Amino acid sequence: MSVTYKLVDDIGVITVDNPPVNALSHAVRQGLVEAIATAQDDSSKAVVIVCAGRTFIAGADISEFGKPPQEPSLPDVMAAVEASAKPVIAALHGTALGGGFELALSCHYRCALGSASVGLPEVKLGLLPGAGGTQRVPRLVGVEAALDMITAGNPVAASEAARLGLIDEVVGEPLQESALAYARGLVAHGAPLRRVRDISIAPDSYSNGQFDAYRARLNKRMRGQEAPQRIVSCIEAAMTLPFDEGLKKERELFIECRESGQSAALRHIFFAERTAPKVVGLSADTAARKVASVGIIGGGTMGGGIAMSFANAGIPVRLLEVSDEALERGLKLIARNYSITVSKGKLSEADAAARQNLITGTTDYQDFAGLDLVIEAVFESMDVKRQVFGQLDKVCKPGAILATNTSYLDVNEIAAATSRPQDVIGLHFFSPANVMKLLEVVRGEQTADDVIATAMKIGKQIRKVPVLARVCYGFIGNRMLRQYAREAQLCMIEGASPEQIDNALTTWGMAMGPLAVGDLAGIDIGYKARQALTDEQKGDPRTYCIADALAEMGRLGQKTGAGYYRYDPETRARSADPEVLEVIEAQATRMGVTRRAISDGEIVDRHILALVNEGFRILEEGIAQRPGDIDVVYVFGYGFPSWRGGPMFYAEQQGLARVYERICQLRDTHGDANWTPAPLLEQLVRENRSLADWVRQPA
Ligand code: 3HC
Ligand code: NAI
Repeated sequence: MSVTYKLVDDIGVITVDNPPVNALSHAVRQGLVEAIATAQDDSSKAVVIVCAGRTFIAGADISEFGKPPQEPSLPDVMAAVEASAKPVIAALHGTALGGGFELALSCHYRCALGSASVGLPEVKLGLLPGAGGTQRVPRLVGVEAALDMITAGNPVAASEAARLGLIDEVVGEPLQESALAYARGLVAHGAPLRRVRDISIAPDSYSNGQFDAYRARLNKRMRGQEAPQRIVSCIEAAMTLPFDEGLKKERELFIECRESGQSAALRHIFFAERTAPKVVGLSADTAARKVASVGIIGGGTMGGGIAMSFANAGIPVRLLEVSDEALERGLKLIARNYSITVSKGKLSEADAAARQNLITGTTDYQDFAGLDLVIEAVFESMDVKRQVFGQLDKVCKPGAILATNTSYLDVNEIAAATSRPQDVIGLHFFSPANVMKLLEVVRGEQTADDVIATAMKIGKQIRKVPVLARVCYGFIGNRMLRQYAREAQLCMIEGASPEQIDNALTTWGMAMGPLAVGDLAGIDIGYKARQALTDEQKGDPRTYCIADALAEMGRLGQKTGAGYYRYDPETRARSADPEVLEVIEAQATRMGVTRRAISDGEIVDRHILALVNEGFRILEEGIAQRPGDIDVVYVFGYGFPSWRGGPMFYAEQQGLARVYERICQLRDTHGDANWTPAPLLEQLVRENRSLADWVRQPA
């Protein structure tokens, strides 16, 4: 029974118990309606709704979306609760979210533990609150606060929720007893049946232009997304229509959202994020190793950020550098990053100091002797990395996990520098490592199962999204990125400008365009890497000649004030640079390319389908465990729009046959070298199968 009802003296207590998060499944909805009905006919004077387990109801059951709806609907449940002739009190703990918080808003009173939070995160699933949230919240907090809360979807702590008027009372533990006492107090004072629907909104508390102004702001902040715009329409309806008509409007727009491709994509990412850390074929009783202390080698861009990620999770870190000066530089960079976070008001000074104190420096490998996990983040050179791992092999205790943050190098070759390849693994963080959520976990041929299990577990502990990959050049993300970056170079030489390419892709939804990213990372990185290669290894010169020319002019990107763009030295604002067009045209002439007009649609297709085609190869080779993992990599590591679900979901949504056909067209125009369709894509189209039901056969 997921909902039970009992009388405690003169108070009826409804308990929802539907692990893990008490989602409003069909059984819970039905149970709630029945329990409210029972309470109408017994001796109770008031009713308390409380939840078992770790949280109050965390929302509708997302796994039911896409299936035929079953009565009672959520709005029916809300209506039954609100219409109760006896006061209903919601008692909140954990996270009261979405439909769960809407249920609380339908109650006549709300109390919560101080540790609780409430929120309407539907927008993050491409939805809007579809059970009265958009109609009730503005009645409690006003138009602007409601717009901010529901379009952002972030949780609000109990104390803030009480200040805003979203909850009535913050109570202490144990919750049920406090809620019973609160309910008895209300009964003793003859508290009325206070329905949020009856609160009227002062007509002078908002202006007619406010909604259009907000829509325009959202067009910038949440470009391309449909749900936020619909939320504004719902809140506008709450102001301009009677309550029941407002509810009707909300329902209509909710259903539009629920049926939309954007919501399907965001729901896919929600579940893919939670599935990614699960390792196929790992026995359930593989115990993770203990990780209570971490060492990091190299305190540069990545090492410092990785150190912060562990310190932020309360894990002490030893940072090793080549010299005292390099160590001081690394520790100073960390201190600076913490003070920036404090100055932005995101962390208290005391917390920043406590975290920083967890990071201590050394230049002596002996200090790593007792550590549980060591992560190497030195220069991207096989010789240097092998030397570091050789040293680690000498000093680290047996069973210590030895990880490399390499972006491209062969983890097996690095592991072979030790006498314990079973303990070696890749932990590929993304820059800035203390901010970016993606963590590629790269298993070597000999990596032990419990080392993989530990990596996935520790990844979650430091609040990253771990995704498992096998060894290949660039693993999942960077291997695909090479194809995407190649298209940026080719589109430029064939006729597009850097700003046309970047605009086409950001308008489509990418967080940044490839050339702006190139300027941020530094054009010299690829240039230097190419210097070590033969012409044959470098491949088609059209894919790097512009980058090389810019690098040789000293245009290395943001750090030199010029790259594919020019940057204002004061504001860092970016502008197009005619000098770059001259470079592009000169290189086109040199390569015998006649430039032409390229449409934005062609730019988008070529970039995104280059990712997709390589994604299919990665899947087929078993580099990634499942299509959703590739999507998670691109959404959390490369700024791919979550509302398009990641490259593999996007391909599926477009229709694999259509994607295949377009890739064949590109092959016919641009040649086999870059556009041979991936065999797995070809096979699925031939067999008329979808990616969702494809499972890789064990080797
Ligand atoms: N429906 C179905 N399953 C859900 C769920 C939901 N609303 N919320 C969480 N789950 C599942 C997860 O998939 C996961 O399953 P798994 O163990 O099989 O992988 C399990 O519950 C635990 O979830 P988390 O790993 O995310 O647990 P955390 O403790 O880290 O986080 C949480 C808990 C904060 C509640 C987080 O799960 C969350 O944010 N859930 C979604 C909340 C949400 O979006 N609610 C709105 C739903 S839409 C709605 O209510 C529409 C209404 O307005 C009409
Ligand atoms: P970086 O040049 O900023 O820092 C490297 C640091 O390692 C320097 O401080 C250097 O003094 C130190 N170092 C070099 N040799 C050492 C040794 N033998 N012992 C101890 N310290 C040593 O480099 P960055 O960008 O931090 O990259 C480090 C690694 O992370 C590389 O393998 C790189 O490919 C990878 N990586 C880089 C990303 C990025 O965006 N910068 C993203 C993901 C991975």
